Amino acid sequence: MDAPRGREAAALGLVVLAALLGLWLLVARPVAVAPAPVQPRTFASPEEAALWALVVERTGEAEQPRPFGGVGLPFPGEADGGPRLAMGREVWRTQCMHCHGFDGRADTPTADLLEPRPRDFSLGIVKYTSTEAGAPATRDDLVRTVRNGLDTTAMSAFRGLPEASLRTVVDYTAWLLVRGDLWTRARAALAEGLTPEAALDRAWEATLEDWRTAPDRVVAVPPAPRDAAALLEEGRRLWTDPRAGCADCHGADGRGRGPLVWDAVAERWLLRDAWGREARPRDLTTGNLHGGRTTPDLYRRIHAGVKGTPMTGRGELLEPREIHALVAWVRHLAER
Ligand code: HEC
Ligand code: HEC
Repeated sequence: MDAPRGREAAALGLVVLAALLGLWLLVARPVAVAPAPVQPRTFASPEEAALWALVVERTGEAEQPRPFGGVGLPFPGEADGGPRLAMGREVWRTQCMHCHGFDGRADTPTADLLEPRPRDFSLGIVKYTSTEAGAPATRDDLVRTVRNGLDTTAMSAFRGLPEASLRTVVDYTAWLLVRGDLWTRARAALAEGLTPEAALDRAWEATLEDWRTAPDRVVAVPPAPRDAAALLEEGRRLWTDPRAGCADCHGADGRGRGPLVWDAVAERWLLRDAWGREARPRDLTTGNLHGGRTTPDLYRRIHAGVKGTPMTGRGELLEPREIHALVAWVRHLAER
Protein backbone atom coordinates (compact mmCIF):
# COMPACT_ATOMS: atom_id res chain seq x y z
CA MET A 1 0.00 0.00 0.00
CA ASP A 2 2.68 2.42 1.01
CA ALA A 3 4.98 1.87 -1.91
CA PRO A 4 2.44 2.69 -4.66
CA ARG A 5 1.30 5.74 -2.73
CA GLY A 6 4.91 6.86 -2.52
CA ARG A 7 5.23 6.40 -6.30
CA GLU A 8 2.01 8.33 -6.82
CA ALA A 9 3.31 11.14 -4.70
CA ALA A 10 6.59 11.10 -6.59
CA ALA A 11 4.73 11.12 -9.92
CA LEU A 12 2.57 14.00 -8.75
CA GLY A 13 5.67 15.81 -7.63
CA LEU A 14 7.18 15.30 -11.06
CA VAL A 15 4.07 16.58 -12.80
CA VAL A 16 4.06 19.69 -10.63
CA LEU A 17 7.75 20.19 -11.29
CA ALA A 18 7.28 19.80 -15.01
CA ALA A 19 4.39 22.25 -14.96
CA LEU A 20 6.46 24.75 -13.04
CA LEU A 21 9.34 24.30 -15.44
CA GLY A 22 6.97 24.78 -18.37
CA LEU A 23 5.59 27.91 -16.81
CA TRP A 24 9.06 29.20 -16.18
CA LEU A 25 10.08 28.48 -19.76
CA LEU A 26 6.98 30.24 -21.04
CA VAL A 27 7.68 33.33 -19.01
CA ALA A 28 11.46 33.47 -18.97
CA ARG A 29 12.25 32.00 -22.42
CA PRO A 30 14.01 34.64 -24.47
CA VAL A 31 12.06 35.76 -27.54
CA ALA A 32 13.34 33.79 -30.53
CA VAL A 33 13.90 36.88 -32.62
CA ALA A 34 14.82 40.09 -30.90
CA PRO A 35 12.85 42.92 -32.46
CA ALA A 36 15.08 44.77 -34.91
CA PRO A 37 15.49 48.46 -34.37
CA VAL A 38 13.16 50.32 -36.70
CA GLN A 39 14.94 53.22 -38.30
CA PRO A 40 12.61 56.19 -38.36
CA ARG A 41 11.70 57.41 -41.81
CA THR A 42 12.64 60.90 -42.76
CA PHE A 43 10.58 63.00 -45.11
CA ALA A 44 11.56 65.91 -47.30
CA SER A 45 8.32 67.81 -46.60
CA PRO A 46 5.05 67.65 -44.68
CA GLU A 47 3.35 66.64 -47.94
CA GLU A 48 5.68 63.66 -48.22
CA ALA A 49 4.91 62.62 -44.65
CA ALA A 50 1.19 62.88 -45.49
CA LEU A 51 1.76 60.75 -48.58
CA TRP A 52 3.51 58.07 -46.53
CA ALA A 53 0.61 58.03 -44.09
CA LEU A 54 -1.73 57.38 -47.04
CA VAL A 55 0.50 54.56 -48.30
CA VAL A 56 0.42 52.95 -44.87
CA GLU A 57 -3.34 53.42 -44.67
CA ARG A 58 -3.79 51.44 -47.88
CA THR A 59 -1.05 48.83 -47.62
CA GLY A 60 -0.61 48.32 -43.89
CA GLU A 61 2.59 48.25 -41.88
CA ALA A 62 5.56 45.91 -42.08
CA GLU A 63 4.11 44.09 -39.07
CA GLN A 64 0.57 44.05 -40.48
CA PRO A 65 0.90 43.87 -44.23
CA ARG A 66 -2.31 44.16 -46.21
CA PRO A 67 -2.71 42.77 -49.72
CA PHE A 68 -3.06 45.31 -52.48
CA GLY A 69 -6.81 45.77 -52.33
CA GLY A 70 -8.93 43.45 -54.37
CA VAL A 71 -6.54 42.66 -57.17
CA GLY A 72 -5.01 39.57 -55.61
CA LEU A 73 -1.59 41.15 -55.34
CA PRO A 74 1.25 40.78 -54.64
CA PHE A 75 0.61 38.43 -57.56
CA PRO A 76 -2.40 37.57 -59.66
CA GLY A 77 -4.53 34.59 -58.80
CA GLU A 78 -3.81 34.91 -55.13
CA ALA A 79 -6.90 36.10 -53.43
CA ASP A 80 -6.95 35.81 -49.68
CA GLY A 81 -3.47 37.26 -49.46
CA GLY A 82 -3.80 38.46 -45.86
CA PRO A 83 -3.02 35.24 -43.98
CA ARG A 84 -0.27 34.33 -46.44
CA LEU A 85 1.40 37.69 -45.97
CA ALA A 86 1.22 37.28 -42.21
CA MET A 87 2.84 33.85 -42.49
CA GLY A 88 5.47 35.24 -44.83
CA ARG A 89 6.21 37.94 -42.31
CA GLU A 90 7.00 35.27 -39.71
CA VAL A 91 9.42 33.51 -42.05
CA TRP A 92 10.94 36.86 -42.91
CA ARG A 93 11.63 37.59 -39.25
CA THR A 94 13.67 34.44 -38.74
CA GLN A 95 15.29 34.00 -42.16
CA CYS A 96 15.70 37.36 -43.86
CA MET A 97 15.36 40.25 -41.44
CA HIS A 98 18.88 40.29 -40.01
CA CYS A 99 20.22 41.09 -43.47
CA HIS A 100 17.32 42.78 -45.29
CA GLY A 101 16.00 44.73 -42.31
CA PHE A 102 12.80 45.07 -40.33
CA ASP A 103 10.87 46.50 -43.28
CA GLY A 104 13.18 45.60 -46.18
CA ARG A 105 15.40 48.66 -46.11
CA ALA A 106 18.54 46.61 -45.43
CA ASP A 107 19.51 49.03 -42.67
CA THR A 108 20.97 46.39 -40.35
CA PRO A 109 24.41 46.07 -38.77
CA THR A 110 24.85 42.84 -40.76
CA ALA A 111 24.13 44.68 -44.00
CA ASP A 112 26.88 47.19 -43.20
CA LEU A 113 29.40 44.35 -43.12
CA LEU A 114 28.50 42.74 -46.41
CA GLU A 115 29.75 43.40 -49.94
CA PRO A 116 27.70 43.21 -52.03
CA ARG A 117 25.20 44.65 -49.63
CA PRO A 118 21.85 42.93 -49.08
CA ARG A 119 19.23 44.43 -51.31
CA ASP A 120 17.22 47.36 -50.02
CA PHE A 121 13.68 46.68 -51.24
CA SER A 122 12.34 50.16 -50.52
CA LEU A 123 12.65 51.31 -54.14
CA GLY A 124 10.82 48.28 -55.51
CA ILE A 125 13.85 47.27 -57.58
CA VAL A 126 15.70 43.98 -57.77
CA LYS A 127 18.71 43.60 -60.04
CA TYR A 128 18.40 40.18 -61.60
CA THR A 129 15.13 39.52 -63.37
CA SER A 130 13.98 37.63 -66.45
CA THR A 131 11.94 40.60 -67.62
CA GLU A 132 12.76 43.35 -70.08
CA ALA A 133 14.23 46.72 -69.12
CA GLY A 134 11.75 48.80 -67.12
CA ALA A 135 9.64 45.82 -66.05
CA PRO A 136 9.52 44.57 -62.46
CA ALA A 137 10.47 41.08 -61.33
CA THR A 138 8.09 38.17 -61.75
CA ARG A 139 7.13 35.90 -58.91
CA ASP A 140 9.24 33.17 -60.50
CA ASP A 141 12.27 35.47 -60.44
CA LEU A 142 11.90 35.98 -56.71
CA VAL A 143 11.28 32.30 -56.02
CA ARG A 144 14.40 31.44 -57.96
CA THR A 145 16.55 33.98 -56.11
CA VAL A 146 15.43 32.69 -52.74
CA ARG A 147 15.66 29.03 -53.68
CA ASN A 148 19.02 29.20 -55.50
CA GLY A 149 20.59 32.21 -53.80
CA LEU A 150 22.88 34.60 -55.65
CA ASP A 151 26.12 32.94 -56.55
CA THR A 152 29.25 34.11 -54.62
CA THR A 153 27.27 36.48 -52.35
CA ALA A 154 25.92 36.32 -48.80
CA MET A 155 22.49 35.66 -50.32
CA SER A 156 22.59 31.93 -49.84
CA ALA A 157 20.26 29.33 -51.27
CA PHE A 158 17.26 28.65 -49.04
CA ARG A 159 16.84 25.12 -50.33
CA GLY A 160 16.08 23.75 -46.87
CA LEU A 161 13.10 26.05 -46.42
CA PRO A 162 9.80 24.13 -46.62
CA GLU A 163 7.93 24.90 -49.84
CA ALA A 164 5.07 26.65 -48.00
CA SER A 165 7.48 28.91 -46.12
CA LEU A 166 9.32 29.74 -49.31
CA ARG A 167 6.10 30.66 -51.08
CA THR A 168 4.84 32.87 -48.29
CA VAL A 169 8.15 34.64 -47.72
CA VAL A 170 8.24 35.43 -51.43
CA ASP A 171 4.73 36.87 -51.08
CA TYR A 172 5.97 39.06 -48.28
CA THR A 173 9.09 40.10 -50.21
CA ALA A 174 6.88 40.98 -53.17
CA TRP A 175 4.64 43.01 -50.90
CA LEU A 176 7.68 45.00 -49.70
CA LEU A 177 8.81 45.51 -53.29
CA VAL A 178 5.43 46.53 -54.70
CA ARG A 179 4.99 48.96 -51.84
CA GLY A 180 8.48 50.33 -52.45
CA ASP A 181 7.68 50.83 -56.11
CA LEU A 182 4.37 52.49 -55.21
CA TRP A 183 6.10 54.85 -52.81
CA THR A 184 8.80 55.76 -55.33
CA ARG A 185 6.28 56.57 -58.03
CA ALA A 186 3.93 58.40 -55.71
CA ARG A 187 6.78 60.55 -54.48
CA ALA A 188 7.70 61.42 -58.06
CA ALA A 189 4.09 62.41 -58.76
CA LEU A 190 4.08 64.54 -55.62
CA ALA A 191 7.22 66.28 -56.83
CA GLU A 192 5.30 67.16 -60.02
CA GLY A 193 2.89 69.15 -57.89
CA LEU A 194 0.03 66.68 -57.36
CA THR A 195 -1.69 66.48 -53.98
CA PRO A 196 -0.74 63.45 -51.84
CA GLU A 197 -4.13 61.82 -52.62
CA ALA A 198 -3.84 62.37 -56.38
CA ALA A 199 -0.18 61.29 -56.38
CA LEU A 200 -1.04 58.02 -54.68
CA ASP A 201 -4.00 57.33 -56.97
CA ARG A 202 -1.88 57.81 -60.06
CA ALA A 203 0.99 55.67 -58.76
CA TRP A 204 -1.40 52.97 -57.55
CA GLU A 205 -2.80 52.11 -61.00
CA ALA A 206 0.55 52.18 -62.78
CA THR A 207 2.36 50.15 -60.13
CA LEU A 208 -0.22 47.40 -59.85
CA GLU A 209 -0.55 47.15 -63.61
CA ASP A 210 3.23 46.76 -64.04
CA TRP A 211 3.57 44.03 -61.42
CA ARG A 212 0.52 42.24 -62.72
CA THR A 213 1.77 42.18 -66.30
CA ALA A 214 5.46 41.45 -65.58
CA PRO A 215 5.11 37.78 -66.65
CA ASP A 216 4.06 38.99 -70.14
CA ARG A 217 7.32 40.89 -70.40
CA VAL A 218 9.83 38.09 -69.91
CA VAL A 219 12.64 38.40 -72.46
CA ALA A 220 12.39 35.60 -75.02
CA VAL A 221 15.73 33.92 -75.61
CA PRO A 222 16.23 32.58 -79.14
CA PRO A 223 18.40 29.47 -79.51
CA ALA A 224 22.13 30.24 -79.57
CA PRO A 225 23.78 30.12 -83.03
CA ARG A 226 25.85 27.00 -83.49
CA ASP A 227 29.02 28.44 -85.06
CA ALA A 228 30.72 28.78 -81.68
CA ALA A 229 34.16 29.90 -82.85
CA ALA A 230 32.85 32.68 -85.12
CA LEU A 231 30.40 33.74 -82.42
CA LEU A 232 33.14 34.09 -79.81
CA GLU A 233 35.22 36.17 -82.23
CA GLU A 234 32.23 38.43 -82.83
CA GLY A 235 31.76 38.77 -79.06
CA ARG A 236 35.41 39.75 -78.60
CA ARG A 237 35.02 42.48 -81.20
CA LEU A 238 31.66 43.72 -79.88
CA TRP A 239 32.99 43.97 -76.31
CA THR A 240 34.95 47.12 -77.24
CA ASP A 241 32.49 48.33 -79.90
CA PRO A 242 30.90 51.65 -78.79
CA ARG A 243 27.50 50.29 -79.84
CA ALA A 244 27.67 47.70 -77.07
CA GLY A 245 29.76 49.87 -74.76
CA CYS A 246 30.78 47.03 -72.43
CA ALA A 247 34.45 47.98 -72.21
CA ASP A 248 33.55 51.56 -71.23
CA CYS A 249 32.55 50.25 -67.85
CA HIS A 250 34.01 46.77 -67.51
CA GLY A 251 37.31 47.73 -69.15
CA ALA A 252 38.84 46.19 -72.27
CA ASP A 253 40.22 43.42 -70.06
CA GLY A 254 36.86 42.84 -68.33
CA ARG A 255 38.24 43.64 -64.89
CA GLY A 256 35.65 46.30 -64.15
CA ARG A 257 37.62 49.53 -64.25
CA GLY A 258 36.60 51.10 -67.54
CA PRO A 259 37.02 54.85 -68.14
CA LEU A 260 33.32 55.59 -67.67
CA VAL A 261 33.27 54.30 -64.09
CA TRP A 262 36.77 54.55 -62.69
CA ASP A 263 38.81 57.73 -62.39
CA ALA A 264 42.30 56.26 -62.44
CA VAL A 265 43.96 59.55 -61.47
CA ALA A 266 41.79 60.43 -58.47
CA GLU A 267 41.30 56.70 -57.81
CA ARG A 268 37.57 56.90 -57.30
CA TRP A 269 34.34 55.49 -58.67
CA LEU A 270 32.34 57.84 -60.84
CA LEU A 271 28.84 56.37 -61.07
CA ARG A 272 26.15 55.62 -58.54
CA ASP A 273 23.26 53.21 -58.52
CA ALA A 274 19.59 53.80 -57.75
CA TRP A 275 20.30 53.37 -54.02
CA GLY A 276 22.92 56.14 -54.14
CA ARG A 277 25.88 53.82 -53.69
CA GLU A 278 29.00 53.50 -55.80
CA ALA A 279 28.26 51.43 -58.88
CA ARG A 280 31.11 49.04 -59.46
CA PRO A 281 30.96 46.95 -62.61
CA ARG A 282 31.80 43.36 -61.96
CA ASP A 283 35.33 42.09 -62.56
CA LEU A 284 34.11 39.47 -64.97
CA THR A 285 37.41 37.58 -64.97
CA THR A 286 36.66 36.38 -61.44
CA GLY A 287 33.74 34.40 -62.83
CA ASN A 288 31.38 35.83 -60.19
CA LEU A 289 28.01 35.99 -61.87
CA HIS A 290 25.35 36.75 -59.27
CA GLY A 291 22.37 36.55 -61.59
CA GLY A 292 23.17 33.09 -62.91
CA ARG A 293 25.46 31.70 -65.58
CA THR A 294 23.14 29.85 -67.93
CA THR A 295 22.71 31.18 -71.47
CA PRO A 296 19.19 32.55 -70.74
CA ASP A 297 20.51 34.26 -67.57
CA LEU A 298 23.35 36.00 -69.38
CA TYR A 299 21.30 36.77 -72.48
CA ARG A 300 18.63 38.46 -70.35
CA ARG A 301 21.25 40.31 -68.31
CA ILE A 302 22.68 41.91 -71.45
CA HIS A 303 19.23 42.43 -73.00
CA ALA A 304 17.65 44.06 -69.94
CA GLY A 305 20.69 45.27 -67.96
CA VAL A 306 21.31 44.99 -64.25
CA LYS A 307 18.31 46.87 -62.85
CA GLY A 308 18.92 49.80 -60.55
CA THR A 309 22.51 50.13 -61.82
CA PRO A 310 24.02 52.20 -64.63
CA MET A 311 24.22 49.01 -66.72
CA THR A 312 21.18 49.55 -68.91
CA GLY A 313 19.83 46.94 -71.29
CA ARG A 314 21.14 46.51 -74.82
CA GLY A 315 18.05 44.72 -76.15
CA GLU A 316 17.05 47.69 -78.28
CA LEU A 317 20.52 48.27 -79.70
CA LEU A 318 21.84 44.82 -80.50
CA GLU A 319 20.59 41.94 -82.64
CA PRO A 320 19.85 38.64 -80.91
CA ARG A 321 22.92 37.13 -82.58
CA GLU A 322 25.08 39.92 -81.18
CA ILE A 323 23.74 39.38 -77.69
CA HIS A 324 24.54 35.70 -77.99
CA ALA A 325 28.05 36.66 -79.15
CA LEU A 326 28.50 38.76 -76.01
CA VAL A 327 27.21 35.92 -73.87
CA ALA A 328 29.92 33.74 -75.38
CA TRP A 329 32.55 36.41 -74.67
CA VAL A 330 31.43 36.97 -71.07
CA ARG A 331 31.64 33.22 -70.53
CA HIS A 332 35.08 33.18 -72.06
CA LEU A 333 36.20 35.98 -69.70
CA ALA A 334 34.67 34.21 -66.72
CA GLU A 335 36.20 30.84 -67.49
CA ARG A 336 39.68 31.89 -68.44
C1 HEC B 1 23.21 36.72 -44.85
C2 HEC B 1 22.49 37.81 -45.44
C3 HEC B 1 21.21 37.53 -46.21
C4 HEC B 1 20.10 36.84 -45.79
C5 HEC B 1 19.87 36.14 -44.48
C6 HEC B 1 19.14 36.96 -46.88
N1 HEC B 1 19.68 37.68 -47.90
FE1 HEC B 1 18.71 38.20 -49.62
N2 HEC B 1 20.39 39.17 -50.27
C7 HEC B 1 21.58 39.24 -49.58
C8 HEC B 1 22.55 39.93 -50.40
C9 HEC B 1 23.99 40.22 -50.01
C10 HEC B 1 21.91 40.28 -51.60
C11 HEC B 1 22.50 41.05 -52.77
C12 HEC B 1 23.50 40.26 -53.59
C13 HEC B 1 23.93 40.98 -54.85
O1 HEC B 1 23.79 42.18 -54.97
O2 HEC B 1 24.39 40.29 -55.73
C14 HEC B 1 20.53 39.80 -51.48
C15 HEC B 1 19.57 39.96 -52.45
C16 HEC B 1 18.27 39.50 -52.34
C17 HEC B 1 17.25 39.73 -53.33
C18 HEC B 1 17.40 40.56 -54.58
C19 HEC B 1 17.92 39.82 -55.80
C20 HEC B 1 18.04 40.76 -56.97
O3 HEC B 1 17.74 40.32 -58.08
O4 HEC B 1 18.40 41.92 -56.82
C21 HEC B 1 16.11 39.13 -52.87
C22 HEC B 1 14.76 39.11 -53.56
C23 HEC B 1 16.42 38.54 -51.60
N3 HEC B 1 17.74 38.78 -51.31
C24 HEC B 1 15.50 37.88 -50.80
C25 HEC B 1 15.82 37.30 -49.58
C26 HEC B 1 14.86 36.58 -48.78
C27 HEC B 1 13.40 36.41 -49.11
C28 HEC B 1 15.53 36.15 -47.66
C29 HEC B 1 15.01 35.27 -46.55
C30 HEC B 1 14.39 34.04 -46.93
C31 HEC B 1 16.90 36.62 -47.78
N4 HEC B 1 17.04 37.32 -48.95
C32 HEC B 1 17.87 36.41 -46.83
C33 HEC B 1 21.82 38.76 -48.31
C34 HEC B 1 20.95 38.03 -47.54
C1 HEC C 1 27.46 51.99 -67.53
C2 HEC C 1 28.34 50.94 -67.08
C3 HEC C 1 28.14 49.55 -67.65
C4 HEC C 1 28.10 49.16 -68.96
C5 HEC C 1 28.13 50.03 -70.21
C6 HEC C 1 28.02 47.72 -68.95
N1 HEC C 1 28.01 47.25 -67.67
FE1 HEC C 1 27.87 45.32 -67.09
N2 HEC C 1 27.78 45.88 -65.15
C7 HEC C 1 27.86 47.17 -64.71
C8 HEC C 1 27.69 47.19 -63.28
C9 HEC C 1 27.70 48.42 -62.39
C10 HEC C 1 27.52 45.83 -62.88
C11 HEC C 1 27.41 45.29 -61.47
C12 HEC C 1 26.08 45.29 -60.91
C13 HEC C 1 26.11 45.00 -59.43
O1 HEC C 1 26.66 44.03 -58.96
O2 HEC C 1 25.55 45.81 -58.76
C14 HEC C 1 27.59 45.05 -64.10
C15 HEC C 1 27.47 43.68 -64.11
C16 HEC C 1 27.61 42.90 -65.26
C17 HEC C 1 27.55 41.46 -65.29
C18 HEC C 1 27.33 40.55 -64.10
C19 HEC C 1 25.88 40.17 -63.99
C20 HEC C 1 25.61 39.13 -62.95
O3 HEC C 1 24.71 38.33 -63.14
O4 HEC C 1 26.30 39.11 -61.93
C21 HEC C 1 27.71 41.08 -66.60
C22 HEC C 1 27.74 39.67 -67.14
C23 HEC C 1 27.87 42.28 -67.38
N3 HEC C 1 27.79 43.36 -66.53
C24 HEC C 1 28.07 42.30 -68.73
C25 HEC C 1 28.08 43.45 -69.51
C26 HEC C 1 28.10 43.45 -70.96
C27 HEC C 1 28.18 42.23 -71.86
C28 HEC C 1 28.07 44.77 -71.35
C29 HEC C 1 27.99 45.32 -72.74
C30 HEC C 1 26.84 44.97 -73.52
C31 HEC C 1 28.00 45.57 -70.13
N4 HEC C 1 28.02 44.74 -69.04
C32 HEC C 1 27.95 46.96 -70.11
C33 HEC C 1 28.07 48.31 -65.47
C34 HEC C 1 28.08 48.34 -66.84
